[in-house]
Amino acid sequence: MTLKKNDSSSSANPGTAGSALPTWTYAREDLLELEYPPFFVETWQFVGHVNELQQSGDFITLDLWKDSVVVTRASDGLLRAFLNICRHRATRLLDGRGNCGSMIKCPYHGWTYQTDGRLAGIPSPKNFPGVDRSEYGLFEAQCEVYRGLVFVRIAGEGPSVAEKMANADHWVESYKAEEYVLLSEAVTETWNANWKIAWDNYLENYHLAVGHPCLHRLVVESEQGAMLLGGNSAGFFEMNPKLSSVDQERRYQEIVGCTDHRYPEEIRRKWLQIDFESNMGIEFYPSLFSVFQVLPMGAEKTQIRMSLYTPADLSESEKELRSIDLALLDEINGQDKFLCERIQRGVKTHGYRPGPLSQEESGIANFHDRIRKLLPVTRLKSPPPRGQIEAHNQQESS
Ligand code: FES
Ligand SMILES: [Fe+2]
Repeated sequence: MTLKKNDSSSSANPGTAGSALPTWTYAREDLLELEYPPFFVETWQFVGHVNELQQSGDFITLDLWKDSVVVTRASDGLLRAFLNICRHRATRLLDGRGNCGSMIKCPYHGWTYQTDGRLAGIPSPKNFPGVDRSEYGLFEAQCEVYRGLVFVRIAGEGPSVAEKMANADHWVESYKAEEYVLLSEAVTETWNANWKIAWDNYLENYHLAVGHPCLHRLVVESEQGAMLLGGNSAGFFEMNPKLSSVDQERRYQEIVGCTDHRYPEEIRRKWLQIDFESNMGIEFYPSLFSVFQVLPMGAEKTQIRMSLYTPADLSESEKELRSIDLALLDEINGQDKFLCERIQRGVKTHGYRPGPLSQEESGIANFHDRIRKLLPVTRLKSPPPRGQIEAHNQQESS
């Protein structure tokens, strides 16, 4: 979920927020091939938090559809990001997270790399006469730390994370996210849905009343918010002044003020939600922050990666608040998985045409406009024949 200001300026249908992509775009692997570079390879992707990468040799990997990236703390104290493959024959180097000591060793033939990516050793070097080791360091990716959050970008250029976040930075700064510690390692789960269904769902609040009754009882949307560079947005929810009839939610509303001492007035007792790039939700609650990532695994399969961080010094009441936050996040995620998988089951239905998007779904309209601009083939109402999607994409661009 996220907060989106109503914006019907791009509407093709008067009175609605715009038109949705045709449903064939949610079930084609060849379209994912076209989407993958601009939406995943050339965008900033969250890997972890600086406090998880304190010691020399600490590393965290992030797996995307075709690529894997590893961020290391090198012996010179700097964080670096690399493609997680050996330069010899592309063997994957590291899994998950951990500490690799002073070297990264390839499990195939044993090439070793320094934690700063330089190639350190080749077993049986006489087999490689004339090979210059300095040319075979790990492929580097861009790495940026924004207020303690570590992001990587495999390729491409453009604004930094800090530049993209600028309009929300005065709020983010107040959370002191760089001081937070890991609450639980990134948890992943598989949703049987196209990545855009999961992201569409994140971008709209129209489904809250029916899809998430707990949220509807607990919070209301606030007018406070900002548009970010590149079409993203930041917005707040605040406590519903009407107390919930459900014990756990009412308790939350009653004790949320125990965190007031941490925050300036304008963000107290609120939830800040930022949608970032086209697949990440960065959410600040009074007792924790979470990063929700939507990562494609195929046309109809998506990995959801959820990372949680918390201040290290919570009081007992704040811990109680946090445990309710975690229970709610679980409940909401389960509901979103259920809903997204049900949409996926419908998208291949013969003869279906998308209905209008409501004003509350303007975030989806903007996201789909961006896709249509980047990948004009998605403007086609009927799917292009297999094997011809690229040609049709070229044709539609001209
Ligand atoms: S593939 Fe890594 S050492 Fe051969
Ligand atoms: Fe939802």
